[in-house]
Amino acid sequence: MLLDVIKERRSIRKYTDQKVSEDQIREILEAAFWAPTAVNRQEWRFAVVEDRETLKKLAEINPNAGMTAGAAFSVIVGYQEGVNDRFAQVDCGAAIQNMLLQAKSMGIGSVWCALMPGSENGVKTAELLGMPEDFRTVATVQFGYPAEERTVEDRYDENKVKFIR
Ligand SMILES: Cc1cc2nc3c(=O)[nH]c(=O)nc-3n(C[C@H](O)[C@H](O)[C@H](O)COP(=O)(O)O)c2cc1C
Repeated sequence: MLLDVIKERRSIRKYTDQKVSEDQIREILEAAFWAPTAVNRQEWRFAVVEDRETLKKLAEINPNAGMTAGAAFSVIVGYQEGVNDRFAQVDCGAAIQNMLLQAKSMGIGSVWCALMPGSENGVKTAELLGMPEDFRTVATVQFGYPAEERTVEDRYDENKVKFIR
């Protein structure tokens, strides 16, 4: 059941040394591309980093994403500024969630870390990766086989839901 995958997905910040194959990375990315986008613009961009030295540099630039140093790979998610900015961040969020869930369904852990557009860390990250001038970061998402277990708790809160029937 999809709801089980959704509920059992937790942010994983510690990873084993086990590699994630090219095919698996491709499947996770493919999930991103199937997310809905405003006016179907699909203006997202993805930088996939597997190189260990670059992962370490990313962790230094983004202390809030320190786990990047030990991840199997990271996907820096962003968009091309000036095309559909009003919706691009939301579109990227949908793509990210698709990747987290696809990874979970494959037994791969992940964590979504903030890297907001125009932030100093976002600009430094884009520079390090040689992204085009108009690339704006939204998040850095780390993936790897889990080396930690997270519990699942119930989150449904009826106080946050209003039914109009
Ligand atoms: C927009 C966004 C930004 C986040 N930024 C960070 C971050 O910078 N570092 C981090 O370790 N986790 C980050 N997280 C992960 C959250 O801490 C995590 O999703 C939350 O605590 C709920 O836990 P769960 O993912 O295990 O359900 C972020 C999540 C989102 C959605």
